[in-house]
Amino acid sequence: MKIYIMKIKIAHLAALLLASLATLPVAHAAEVTHLRCEYLTNPLGIDAPQPRLSWQIEDNDHKPTTRGLQQTAYQVLVASSQELLQNNKGDLWDSGRVESNNTSQIEYKGAQPLKSRQQCFWKVKTWLTGGASAASQPASWEMGLLQPADWKAKWVEGAGYLRKTLKLAAKPVARARLYVTALGLYQMNINGQRVGDVLFGPEWTDYNKRIRYQEYDVTAMLRKGDNVMAGLVGHGWYSGTIGNGHNRFWGKVPALFAQLEVTYADGTGECVVTDASWKTAASPILASDFMLGENYDARLEVKGWDAPGLDESAWTPVNVREEKPRPLESQVTEPVRKISEIKVVAIKEPKPGCWTFDLGQNMVGYVRLKVAAPAGTKLTIRHAEMLDPEGTVYTQNLRQAPSVDTYICKGTGVEIFQPHFTFHGFRYVEVTGLTEKPTPDTITGIVIASAITPAGEFSCSDARINQLYSNIVWGQRGNYLSVPTDCPQRDERLGWMGDAQVFVRTATYNADVAAFFTKWLVDVDDAQMADGAFTDVCPRVGAGAGTPAWADAGVICPWTIYQVYGDMRLLAQHYPAMVRWIEWCRGHSINLIRVDMSETGKKLRGRDYGDWLSIGADTPKDLIGTAYFAYSTKLVAQAAAALGKTDDAAKYQQLFQDIKAAFNQKYVAADGRIQGNTQCCYAMALKFGLLSDEMRDKAAQYLVEDITAKNDHLSTGFVGVSYLLPVLTQAGRTETAFKLFLQDSFPSWLFSVKHGATTIWERWDGWTPDKGFQNPGMNSFNHYSLGSCGEWMFSSMAGIDTDGPGFKKLIIRPTPGEGITWVKCSYDSINGRIVSNWQRDGGKLTMDVTVPANTTATVYVPAKDANGVTESGQPTGKTVGVKFLCMENHHAVYAVDSGSYRFQSAL
Ligand code: BGC
Repeated sequence: MKIYIMKIKIAHLAALLLASLATLPVAHAAEVTHLRCEYLTNPLGIDAPQPRLSWQIEDNDHKPTTRGLQQTAYQVLVASSQELLQNNKGDLWDSGRVESNNTSQIEYKGAQPLKSRQQCFWKVKTWLTGGASAASQPASWEMGLLQPADWKAKWVEGAGYLRKTLKLAAKPVARARLYVTALGLYQMNINGQRVGDVLFGPEWTDYNKRIRYQEYDVTAMLRKGDNVMAGLVGHGWYSGTIGNGHNRFWGKVPALFAQLEVTYADGTGECVVTDASWKTAASPILASDFMLGENYDARLEVKGWDAPGLDESAWTPVNVREEKPRPLESQVTEPVRKISEIKVVAIKEPKPGCWTFDLGQNMVGYVRLKVAAPAGTKLTIRHAEMLDPEGTVYTQNLRQAPSVDTYICKGTGVEIFQPHFTFHGFRYVEVTGLTEKPTPDTITGIVIASAITPAGEFSCSDARINQLYSNIVWGQRGNYLSVPTDCPQRDERLGWMGDAQVFVRTATYNADVAAFFTKWLVDVDDAQMADGAFTDVCPRVGAGAGTPAWADAGVICPWTIYQVYGDMRLLAQHYPAMVRWIEWCRGHSINLIRVDMSETGKKLRGRDYGDWLSIGADTPKDLIGTAYFAYSTKLVAQAAAALGKTDDAAKYQQLFQDIKAAFNQKYVAADGRIQGNTQCCYAMALKFGLLSDEMRDKAAQYLVEDITAKNDHLSTGFVGVSYLLPVLTQAGRTETAFKLFLQDSFPSWLFSVKHGATTIWERWDGWTPDKGFQNPGMNSFNHYSLGSCGEWMFSSMAGIDTDGPGFKKLIIRPTPGEGITWVKCSYDSINGRIVSNWQRDGGKLTMDVTVPANTTATVYVPAKDANGVTESGQPTGKTVGVKFLCMENHHAVYAVDSGSYRFQSAL
């Protein structure tokens, strides 16, 4: 097959000139990039016995402009040393030449099982269409500690600082690894330096079921002779205050568990672990808690606490604690890290001595304080999302999370403080106790989050929508902190399942959340009740189970991750739990209707939150329950089919049909009215495929009528809101979808934007000009759920979607709706960057589309008729990579190969 090149430049003229090249065959060099193992780059501490590898094929100028670029075959080499790999020796695994264009989910298949600590160096050679080939740079992964017997460490607790002096032999160290975890949170230092940049390790899990650990390469931190391993622990989720009034949920006192393994160049080694030989002394951290904040007295700092040479005579031995054995499993996701810094945009003094700093962005993390004040000066730092009318910080909505950090100065000149084991959700910071007028430098916002790689970019001709998109991304950033949480500021911050499922598809467009969900879905299964009910929050801390739309996250999230990343292993792993949930619903229904009570008075529906926070529209809760029962059953049937479980696929497809019939009989009237007659019930019925063709049209009509009757306003809460725009678009009601989306009066997405929001609010009316703040009992200004419209912005406005699992086949189908004149959008899929930019100029539409290597797309070009459509300035039959398929609903439809294209049409 021939390879052709087509460079598309923004300027139309350039495109025309280059179009003439399109028919010339050019062998084009490509690169193999983005080598990852289990979704992570060169990870340490992999526990999966057969890790999966992935890569991408990119044009050598990193713009996938080559048309029809495909990998025809690949060969993976995995070696136990860099030298062997360099010599093309895959002593661990040589896949041989595999004829395939797959570049992800490639399972390691070496003959010998991988052992604890095994270092694996790998590279991939690919053969490409047109006879070219490309080889990757080397990459690596390292296996963690796979056997319980690998662990020699003991759990230790102390009064604050923890340390151990160790002596290393006077010979070169070839490699040193620190394996560390905690019940609580830890920070490790070696020889006066912090190890790594992980915050809040070892991640939040149900600590009774499993504990994650991290592995660090500390070779460069060690020296001959005396070395010091030192640590601090904090309460975190384990023994601190967590959501909804829970305190010390898993334990009372945090403990550290660390193991340093040193291998000398001569092959001998040492293993130094936390045990009774460790010493402890009071630290300057007087108290630290996620909800309360941190109190720090810098006068208590011990210089050199983490370095050799300290007089340890006043230090006491740590307490060694017996803990029941639990699985220690490696970190499988990106850790929480510092993401960025935010500078102060305004400083005010609303009351004498009370300074407020505005960071201009509602964020999650903490502040770095820079002061110079006499010893003993106590500074109090309060955090808030909003100001009250007096200009002081508004903290009522934080409930029982005071979020106050205090710092006592040591008086040695300029001092810098940032807390160790707490985080806050805030835009405004109040500092009292300053002895001098502050400068913008006094406070800096430190943004933290699970360090997930961004994947999406979106902008359009309406600045309000761009702010909305920024708010959606900030909402995700602030709430994807070890687990997907509801909010980061008040005393809640839990892994609410309903929120997670309505937002998951949007999340996948914004960022590469594959590893994040790989970790959290294990927490979801860990939380599942013995009878099969998924819980309301994961990790489970109180709350209910079996709640419609919340518990269904246990099905919807794994299915979505499979759809987006093609992750069959994850689907297979969670499939049994998904099935148990469906069977639980079946057993908790009467005639397949998810009623509230059984005949014997048993509660059947968990904690029913309904269409949570909807506006004056009551959707019957049994209807929501039944609709979700049907939807999850349908997804389980599809999952079974994908996994080759044909019997299950047939069984659950039949069950879906039966629930659908029961739904129609019970809730859908002869004229198509659905009980409740709310936007939510029509949106759900349409999205979940619960209606006949005839009833579908009627439902769409009723939905449009309701929106119109409300002057183009929505009435849905968390549940209905995510489906509104997609079903309107699907039903061809684009005009209504755009009117609704561009609405900025209450209730609407743009209402909060109009009032200065920089994150998504929990409620449509968190603050209104007439009423001020909503009930402080539940009024977060950083809750991502209502931002679930992000999915539609990518999949419909820009029109980027997957066609089947894993973005192997794509759909590009932009919707140039009324009120928007251009959209620029890209999405970094697992196969590479997809671009869909469009611009409307009078009646003419220009679409710039990029389809990454190894994928193909169906491109829908809005057009009056196919004859008027050009590609790179030529009639569409003339350029390579594009094949006309048909006209469909005012779209010219094309089968398109990988590459970059410019379509133009008359609308
Ligand atoms: C949380 C939500 C959650 C809900 C359940 C709230 O307190 O903040 O986001 O989904 O409870 O209804």
